[in-house]
Amino acid sequence: MTTQPVTLIINGKEQNFALSTETPLLYVLRNDCGLNGAKFGCGLGECGACTVLLGDRPIRACTTRIGAVRGRHITTLEGLASGGLDDDRTPHPVQQAFCEVQAAQCGYCLNGMIMATVGLLRSNPHADEKAIRAALRRQLCRCGTHMEILAAVRLARDRMAEETADAGGPARLQTLQSPPAPFHPAPAAGTEAEASAP
Ligand code: FES
Repeated sequence: MTTQPVTLIINGKEQNFALSTETPLLYVLRNDCGLNGAKFGCGLGECGACTVLLGDRPIRACTTRIGAVRGRHITTLEGLASGGLDDDRTPHPVQQAFCEVQAAQCGYCLNGMIMATVGLLRSNPHADEKAIRAALRRQLCRCGTHMEILAAVRLARDRMAEETADAGGPARLQTLQSPPAPFHPAPAAGTEAEASAP
């Protein structure tokens, strides 16, 4: 397997690698960058534990080859907080809401839940219940904290909408309302937020 220079922009910082273009993005994030927010779950694109943002779009890092995202902006869980990677950073409103609602049990799925929620609220800031459940439909949780997760998403949505309105938001809202992008690749099997919700 031959190596090639590959540049990625990870959490706003340009980084250069000499790796096979077939290397999974998840391996680069965790092993080369020490960014362990994205988790290895299934490795098959099915569970969502490895979700990161490509631009504003949630993707599966385990099935994304770095050659396919050369030069692109990647955001991981570590890059969400304001203040970047500094110690005194402020959590993103979605992270804050998940903490307040105590949406974690084991917590393994939460990276994916949070990143999928951030992607959703960037594309659809006023996401209704149907849109929320659709966005989280393929993020798997084995513990069964789906009700708390959904409550956290609603809380984050409402707070972010208030903040946007306070900031005088129509122009900002317009920039956020691009069409929601689907996850890839194939549909997942197993316990899903939508399936477990009443
Ligand atoms: Fe990537 Fe499961 S580890 S989807």
